[in-house]
Amino acid sequence: MLAELIQLMQPAIDAEMQQVISNPQFQSYPGLEPILRYHLGRENQSGQGKKIRPLMVLLSAAAPGVDWRSALPSAAAVELLHNFSLIHDDIEDSSPLRRGHETVWKKWGIPLAINAGDAMFTLSFLALERLSETVGPEAALRSMQVLAQASLHLTCGQHLDISNEGERLIELDAYWSMIAGKTAALLSACMRLGAIAGGATDEQERLLARFGAELGMAFQAWDDWLGIWGDAVETGKSTKSDLIAGKKTLPVVYALQKPGRFYDRWMRGGILPDEVDELSAWLAEDGAQKFTENEVARLTAQAIDSLHMSGFENKYVQGLQELALSLLKRRK
Ligand code: IPE
Ligand code: IPE
Ligand code: MG
Ligand code: MG
Repeated sequence: MLAELIQLMQPAIDAEMQQVISNPQFQSYPGLEPILRYHLGRENQSGQGKKIRPLMVLLSAAAPGVDWRSALPSAAAVELLHNFSLIHDDIEDSSPLRRGHETVWKKWGIPLAINAGDAMFTLSFLALERLSETVGPEAALRSMQVLAQASLHLTCGQHLDISNEGERLIELDAYWSMIAGKTAALLSACMRLGAIAGGATDEQERLLARFGAELGMAFQAWDDWLGIWGDAVETGKSTKSDLIAGKKTLPVVYALQKPGRFYDRWMRGGILPDEVDELSAWLAEDGAQKFTENEVARLTAQAIDSLHMSGFENKYVQGLQELALSLLKRRK
């Protein structure tokens, strides 16, 4: 079911994004649009992301029974906002690789990368312009507020993520607030934007948004898992940089709750690339791998419960459930 829906929706998402990124302003300023196109993998298929966020918007809009095409402007907007956050995140995390390709800052330098991120951010809001035609001005205005709130929440989460690099350890609660901002806020907003376009009731909207938030927490916890035990060729990102940078990922936060081999080495600081494999093994021995897997499964199940509580039962909700379950096993 999901595969069929993706096949149907993906070309429409790509066309909507294409229209937004070919803004006439760029014609007089050559050089900027190619950076955006490069980051989005529009010149090279292998550089494309999974595009789960726009898909969530469209499935959420279709769940109450309206034509999902009316939510295309919101779908383009969330994917552009996500990509803005990645361009800046790669600078903030000093990451050289994204989707198996050099990151924007690596290729063009930090000043141009910051600026390209700013352009991508602005385009995400411009993408919503067409929404007043498809869903009316009131729903369009609310959608803009939802996107802006999610964007602010995302930067709050990123603030914590970056600040926490300087801490030796953090509490689990602090971890959950950090990822609620940096990742779950946008996934929740995807569902909310879909619900607004689809004319869901307030209660349905709340439950769909809760599905997005819970799925977002599971998604980030699994991203943390992949960042330690994943295959860098498959993920297209480094599997060493989180530990070297001192990132407070879920496995690390869990392992730091009690003294052990990992704890002792971590507390001395200054982890070197050569030590990463051994530290990853110690983390697994301390139960951090299993704990993370259990948390991802728990949050995914919770998300699916929220989804069904919204009361919709159709192929679009089935698609959302399939999506949630597929993310549980993703390798990239
Ligand atoms: C990566 O998101 C950043 C996180 C929030 C974990 P995705 O894994 O959705 O990235 P792409 O767009 O598919 O590359
Ligand atoms: C994910 O950040 C959240 C945002 C980009 C806003 P991470 O730094 O954890 O994700 P990756 O692993 O670089 O994609
Ligand atoms: Mg990062
Ligand atoms: Mg980051």
